[in-house]
Amino acid sequence: MRNVVIVGAQWGDEGKGKVVDILTEKANMVVRFQGGNNAGHTLVVGGEKYALHLVPSGILHPGKSGLIAGGVVIDPEVLLEEMDELMGRGVKISPENLTISEKAHVIMPYHKALDQARESRKGADKIGTTGRGIGPAYEDKAARVGLRMGDLRNPAAFREKAAHALIEKNHLLTGLYGAPALSAEDLTAQSRLWAERLGPYLGDTRRRLHQALERDDKILFEGAQGVHLDLDHGSYPFVTSSNPVAGSVTVGAGMAPQQIGGVLALVKCYSTRVGAGPFPTELHDATGDHLRSKGAEFGTTTGRPRRCGWLDAVIVRTSVELCGVDHLAVTKLDVLAGLPELKIATHYLLGGEKIDWIPADVRDMERCQPVYESWPGFDGDLSKARKLEDLPAAARRYLDRLSELCGAPLGLVSVGPDREETIILHEYF
Ligand code: GDP
Ligand code: IMO
Ligand code: MG
Repeated sequence: MRNVVIVGAQWGDEGKGKVVDILTEKANMVVRFQGGNNAGHTLVVGGEKYALHLVPSGILHPGKSGLIAGGVVIDPEVLLEEMDELMGRGVKISPENLTISEKAHVIMPYHKALDQARESRKGADKIGTTGRGIGPAYEDKAARVGLRMGDLRNPAAFREKAAHALIEKNHLLTGLYGAPALSAEDLTAQSRLWAERLGPYLGDTRRRLHQALERDDKILFEGAQGVHLDLDHGSYPFVTSSNPVAGSVTVGAGMAPQQIGGVLALVKCYSTRVGAGPFPTELHDATGDHLRSKGAEFGTTTGRPRRCGWLDAVIVRTSVELCGVDHLAVTKLDVLAGLPELKIATHYLLGGEKIDWIPADVRDMERCQPVYESWPGFDGDLSKARKLEDLPAAARRYLDRLSELCGAPLGLVSVGPDREETIILHEYF
């Protein structure tokens, strides 16, 4: 397999950053293809923690190249901060190893202001977005009024377009949302800095990708978010504004469907969700608290406590179908240790009917009651396990059943946040 698409099979935060980091060791290139800095991918390398939002996780390895492809939306402010922080920690980042697509859309300050203003106006009905301007930036892309990274090549035209956009955005911000207006002068000053610093990184990521494909390079596609936050396939409207499904790599990175080598889906062995929306297996009891505190389930991007619950096989199985998943990378098995009983939802009850699919209407999904299977728990420190046989028998049985119910074989099992704390079952490259 020469390239692998990494996707999150649940609602994000499954541990994609860690697994991309491990696979990067043997890869030549890592590509971000959708989403923006709503993503927060945590990597722990030699006990040191890195939280990445836009820079492809592979950049931590010397000699690898990273692409931020056209399907991504970029907040230049956040990208520069992230690059500075990484470079300050000794990570080499230059136009040699990072290319940013000219076609990627820019998250402008007014996108962030609108995202936040809308959410606070919605009150109890809010989506619980990350407030990073993701939705408004993709809206402008679809409405064909967005600014693209390539526009930074012509700073005068960029500033003119931005100032023009501000007329409408300020009208909304002040008139409808009672938020302060943004100043065209501030935008101009910011965009000058963005153009100066990011200009050298701009390029045709699609061509770079095709050259790499022709060389038969090993490529990792680093998905962001999770399949159930997908704009088309998730629990709309409690979703993000991009498509985290695997097929989205063809549009976001610019390649043919036949060129996808394989799909690895990240599955946390329990469920979490940040933000609002249906979550059939959510726990509001001591077990939920155990998962949150032992699993350190607090958002990488926003610091919000994550909602926690049992593993939902209906959710993961649907992702396996949607993405053509070849293997599952199961994370956080160590977090389950200490619980006397483990549950997996196999079906739902909706109005008395047993269903094994997800209703399209979010109100119906809110009414779904999980039907559980119970499995005996296990105990002990799992973090030293490097092969399946090192795990307690009950943990192995849980993994076997997870794989069976979700409909794909195991490729990797993670037993701790560090690179080393991993059981590799399938070699990708
Ligand atoms: P991503 O968005 O999918 O990359 O996931 P996040 O980085 O937002 O959240 C996953 C969190 O779990 C991070 O803090 C990781 O360091 C951590 N993590 C990943 N795998 C494991 C594991 O197997 N066990 C434990 N305890 N933590 C893990
Ligand atoms: P990673 O890549 C978890 C969620 C938000 C909110 C919804 C919409 O780290 O897995 P948005 O700001 O995208 O408009 O918010 O999507 N969300 C995530 N949840 N992990 C993420 O990324 C997420 N990115 C967005 O919490 O519910
Ligand atoms: Mg995350």
